[in-house]
Amino acid sequence: MARDGAAYVCQSCGAVHTKWAGQCVACSAWNTLVEELGSRPPGALAPTKATKARGLSFMGLESETLTPPRIETGLAEFDRVCGGGVVPGSAVLIGGDPGVGKSTLLLQVCAEAAARGASCAYISGEEAAEQIRARAGRMGYSRAPVSLAAETAIRDILDGLKRDRFDLVVIDSIQTLWSDNHEAGPGSVTQVRACVAELVRLAKKQNCAILLVGHVTKDGQIAGPRVVEHMVDAVLSFEGERGYPFRILRAAKNRFGATDEIGVFEMGETGLRQVHNPSALFLGDSGQRAAGAAVFAGMEGSRPVLVEFQALAAPSAYGTPRRAVVGWDSGRLAMVLAVLEARCGLSFAGRDVYLNVAGGLRINEPAADLAAAAALASSALDVALPQDCVVFGEVSLSGEIRSVCRMEARLKEAAKLGFKRALAPSGAADGAPIPVAGVSRLAEAIRRIGEEDWKA
Ligand code: TYD
Ligand code: MG
Repeated sequence: MARDGAAYVCQSCGAVHTKWAGQCVACSAWNTLVEELGSRPPGALAPTKATKARGLSFMGLESETLTPPRIETGLAEFDRVCGGGVVPGSAVLIGGDPGVGKSTLLLQVCAEAAARGASCAYISGEEAAEQIRARAGRMGYSRAPVSLAAETAIRDILDGLKRDRFDLVVIDSIQTLWSDNHEAGPGSVTQVRACVAELVRLAKKQNCAILLVGHVTKDGQIAGPRVVEHMVDAVLSFEGERGYPFRILRAAKNRFGATDEIGVFEMGETGLRQVHNPSALFLGDSGQRAAGAAVFAGMEGSRPVLVEFQALAAPSAYGTPRRAVVGWDSGRLAMVLAVLEARCGLSFAGRDVYLNVAGGLRINEPAADLAAAAALASSALDVALPQDCVVFGEVSLSGEIRSVCRMEARLKEAAKLGFKRALAPSGAADGAPIPVAGVSRLAEAIRRIGEEDWKA
């Protein structure tokens, strides 16, 4: 029998159980139930005084009061991912691996926004004020008018924020907050949920924007509760590959904007530098492109981004050849390989196949099919694609090349970066800024790649 007030809370989904069990019945996760004091099981609500319901007063969609303008932080890459600035009264959760640069990013956001006249507070439960000052000094922000505090008790934080109203408040991180209304330890689902709920309420009431930092677990979820993701208005993730200096900010959920925008930053000695032209970064300085490389003209949100697909088809030493892929979907690779085999007569049997998206970017677009196929064919045939050629197009199972969205924007970006031709769906040729070798079937594209004196 559980002690009075004790319950078992699933650390994955937040479901409350009266008894311990090996598996959570709500989300089927194993070994996630942890006893937390002070979280009542459902149905065991605290006795409340019966109050009379007041009913609803409905209103129209047309707003009578003017919505306040968004807070532009001055970090254009950050603002774009938020949908054009931070919305007053909203709560934004920023997740990321430890050490990826969340604290650095938000300190920079605070300092830049403060320099533009917004009142900003940075509350850290992870670092001492002196450490943050040292970091700000290194980043050249020692004079920025940011109000700094090191605090973890939610009661004190709320009290402080009620006394001084800020336009923008950063809380680093939600896992360090604790409330003395709950006996569970900091970082537990109960604590995190309770503290975030309080902060979200305060944000709405005071019309200030709250940016919350959340740590990410090994499997890439924001540590502790998914429930927090439902409570906030936007969830951004800050990602970076180990060994690469650049970091990508993505929106996973955004009530005030699109979720396919990315912000690109480069981590340097003095903090994060915005990368306004990511294509140049992802392509690197290319000498002669080798066989197996194809430059994909992709779209990340509203922005065209050029990245290199690299493929290697090597004789396999194993009975079952390996298929390894980094930065792209392995199911999609299997499909493209099958189409190459079945429709184009290229055989990958007995060969290990490796596919890599250079620079650590993750590509999700179907438009990348043709670039992957071109890279694979180029490696298999040992013929390099022309140096100045970009590739895009969707490949169907029948071996057709389908048109993709925003073809003109892709070609414009390629032209801007000095590319002179494109291998693309036939439909892309109209009004294109560079010559397009339009192809309607994958076999046709592979034949062109095989011709040594490849001409557009
Ligand atoms: P940090 O913002 O503390 O990460 P998080 O809050 O996500 O845990 O960033 C830590 C890393 O960033 C650390 O490995 C050092 C690096 N860094 C730089 O390279 N340059 C800088 O100017 C700063 C501030 C950090
Ligand atoms: Mg940090």
